Amino acid sequence: MTIQWFPGHMTKARRQIEEKLKLIDVVIELVDARLPLSSRNPMIDEILQGKPRLIVLNKADLADPAVTKQWIEYFKQEGFMAVQADASSGQGIKEIPLLAKELMREKIEKQLAKGVNPRAVRALIVGIPNVGKSTLINRLAGRNIAATGDRPGVTKGQQWIKVGTDMELLDTPGILWPKFEDQNVGYRLALTGAIREEILNVEDIAFFGVKYLAKYYWEPLKERFDLKDRPQDFENPDEIVAVMEAVGRKRGCIVSGGRVDLEKASGILLRELRSGKLGRYTLEAPY
Ligand code: G4P
Repeated sequence: MTIQWFPGHMTKARRQIEEKLKLIDVVIELVDARLPLSSRNPMIDEILQGKPRLIVLNKADLADPAVTKQWIEYFKQEGFMAVQADASSGQGIKEIPLLAKELMREKIEKQLAKGVNPRAVRALIVGIPNVGKSTLINRLAGRNIAATGDRPGVTKGQQWIKVGTDMELLDTPGILWPKFEDQNVGYRLALTGAIREEILNVEDIAFFGVKYLAKYYWEPLKERFDLKDRPQDFENPDEIVAVMEAVGRKRGCIVSGGRVDLEKASGILLRELRSGKLGRYTLEAPY
């Protein structure tokens, strides 16, 4: 699902989140563990107006575990509470209400000291499309609540979902737009399938992916497509295209004259990459 974000959509999405912020205590910001910065909204700090925040690196099952650890450390150093999760299987989900409560600890302790019984922590999930907001809401709720493919601008009655005794969650997530200014961000999002291919050229996306994989994840790429020659100079486009051609030959993408159909080869490569056939990978590292 892809939303075409125009300035009007952004303003509306922002306003909707600001409305929801009035109702909640903590924000659960969902990012994709494979691209934790590129899958963030560029104005997130400003939009959330200092609300206590837990950053969840979702789809950790698809990401490189060593780099995910580095990212969690990075966010902690930035002053955030951060945790990894896999909303599809439910791995890491149990910790979320506990950490949300931890974010409110001071306030809860003050209330207890005054003899007031603290109510459940109220939370809102926010993130760009396709990071797994609906999947996480359904997981936390233990049933199907949010229709996947939610769109900004579609308003419906909001409800609280009880998550154990300590947390209540708004059933509609806050949807935000990704960064658009940086083309590499676009390529990373496209590689994971978060933005539609029509926006960027499929061969350019595959080129970006092959270059990155050849540099950081050569073994799985080599194994999958029986490759022989690793590029020596990653900045030399001919060497990257040679790898793409080898992938195309392996998958039978040959046109008349024995030429490799690069567009078809790129499509196949992207499908295999997105469906996890090339193993776990992370497209950006914090250090
Ligand atoms: P959104 O509300 O933020 O837009 O995201 P949504 O929950 O719809 O999830 C988008 C896709 O990501 C879904 O796949 C969902 O199953 C998958 N997903 C969510 N969380 C995880 C996770 O932790 N690990 C993995 N591996 N996948 C996750 P889908 O319905 O098949 O859509 P698509 O793959 O066709 O885009």
